[in-house]
Amino acid sequence: MTFHQWYLEHYQSRWEFLYTALLQPPKMYEFAEGLKRPYYLDEASLEAARALEVQPGDAVLDACAAPGGKTLVLALQLGGTGLLIANDRSSSRRARLHRVLQDHLEDQERSVIRVTGHDASRWGLYEQNRYDRILLDAPCSSERHVLQEPRELNRWGAGRTKRLALQQFAMVAAALEAVKPGGRIVYSTCALSPLENDGVMAKLLKKRPGASLLSKPEGIPWGEPTEHGWIILPDRAEGRGPMYIAVITKREEP
Ligand SMILES: C[S@@+](CC[C@H](N)C(=O)[O-])C[C@H]1O[C@@H](n2cnc3c(N)ncnc32)[C@H](O)[C@@H]1O
Repeated sequence: MTFHQWYLEHYQSRWEFLYTALLQPPKMYEFAEGLKRPYYLDEASLEAARALEVQPGDAVLDACAAPGGKTLVLALQLGGTGLLIANDRSSSRRARLHRVLQDHLEDQERSVIRVTGHDASRWGLYEQNRYDRILLDAPCSSERHVLQEPRELNRWGAGRTKRLALQQFAMVAAALEAVKPGGRIVYSTCALSPLENDGVMAKLLKKRPGASLLSKPEGIPWGEPTEHGWIILPDRAEGRGPMYIAVITKREEP
């Protein structure tokens, strides 16, 4: 099956509009408030980070943090209180993350951040019930990027999204172990493939009775509900996205 056949099957008559919107250059937002200098990112990414609703003093894990746009949001919300673990398994991307934190954050906000390089899918083996908030901005199909790179498009196969969905499930299950009861996880991807979005959430609800989904994130000005979360897609969000956001909590012990 080709890329187009796969997405046509999922998005049906909408695919033509979505495809056209995905081919446009991404709409970048100048995120400046509270930063030493502006950082440019998709506004949909800001919404994913804000959906975590970090409170001053929280212990926060940003499990897949590099290059760090969302980490900046979390650090500003902590304002130099609590703890922020900014983790990414890739050493080259961690180097970029260090530069982003250095260039854009004041010393006070940076003072509570620790950059680590662990495998997010194994986190629960080492820390349980530790974090108030976890952002899991998972590695994903990134179809908008794939469409703009002919070599990647040629290499695409449906097996890729299936493999990523398995990895994403392992990561979100590990985040569930690591979050405190009553704590909050935001699961986000920039994937169009429903397997990596609602598919991962459906599996989590089925296989992990401790997980429960909170209703749609509050106050996001663009996007639309999905079965288990919220998705911002560029054909209906003036070029923003794709960004899927689901908010999960771990049930308190009875
Ligand atoms: C979607 S990107 C994160 C973007 C980032 N949150 C931001 O807003 O700038 C996903 C990241 O996950 C990292 N990654 C992939 N597999 C990982 C794993 N098993 N554990 C931790 N990080 C991983 C990749 O290196 C990549 O930087």
